[in-house]
Amino acid sequence: MTDHILIERPEAAPGVQVIRFNRADKKNAITRAMYEAMTAALKAGDADEGVRATVFLGSEGCFSAGNDLTDFMAVAMGGAMAREAVDFLYALATHSKPLVSGVDGLAIGIGTTIQLHCDLTYASDRTQFRTPFVDLALVPEAASSLLAPRVMGHQRAFALLADGDVFSASAAKEAGLVYAVVEPGAVERETLTAAGRLAAKPPKALAIARNLVRGDRSDVLARIDEELGHFSAQLKSPEARAAFEAFMTRR
Ligand code: COA
Repeated sequence: MTDHILIERPEAAPGVQVIRFNRADKKNAITRAMYEAMTAALKAGDADEGVRATVFLGSEGCFSAGNDLTDFMAVAMGGAMAREAVDFLYALATHSKPLVSGVDGLAIGIGTTIQLHCDLTYASDRTQFRTPFVDLALVPEAASSLLAPRVMGHQRAFALLADGDVFSASAAKEAGLVYAVVEPGAVERETLTAAGRLAAKPPKALAIARNLVRGDRSDVLARIDEELGHFSAQLKSPEARAAFEAFMTRR
């Protein structure tokens, strides 16, 4: 296991399980071991009646810089696509408890697309959302190509997912990716308060309400698979390898 993901049960928010990115020196870039730890926590939360809401948090000024580009480079050099990341996407899309996210600062790649699976996202006013998939010669993942147009409409989804446009917290709120924008110091408090409030509600009614609002997930799972087919092919492309090399040799 890794200590780059912390699993917390805050006393102040009974019934809430927190999954916290804890790799600040690498901007919380997500490794295979971190995906594995998050999948285990999501599944444990599914199975535990005591967990009534799940929260994602990062560190001060950084939610996550997305997938670890060293891991991507390993695949580009001939390695196998990380099963851990795929398992995480399935666990995320099928998680049975309300998902609440608190984002302060950088949210790149899956740091942004994870929000499309969350029921409430609180972002600080200094947060920037960005998915530079195409600039890395990659394609959208986590069913973002399906969910983002639903949430924000075609043009904003295209600007985010294909053009790699940076969305400020206020632009993300206007687009429907974020529920509320708060000061950096208030992100965790607001996030845990919301999750605690949800955790105190009648769980069966909340689960039914959430399922009705989210709708059937089969199209989401099918889109995850469709995207992954393109993603894994692109990961091995010369243009992607060049993009990863450029990042690693940028200084
Ligand atoms: N994968 C692996 N390492 C990463 C990373 C990533 N996605 N993002 C940041 N890091 C590492 C850097 O290599 C650096 O490590 P080092 O100190 O050992 O050199 C450390 O985190 C700090 O990053 P740095 O680039 O020095 O900080 P910055 O404030 O100048 O820039 C970012 C921060 C996030 C804008 C920049 O690191 C970046 O663009 N990262 C890549 C984001 C990305 O493309 N993610 C994939 C999306 S699909």
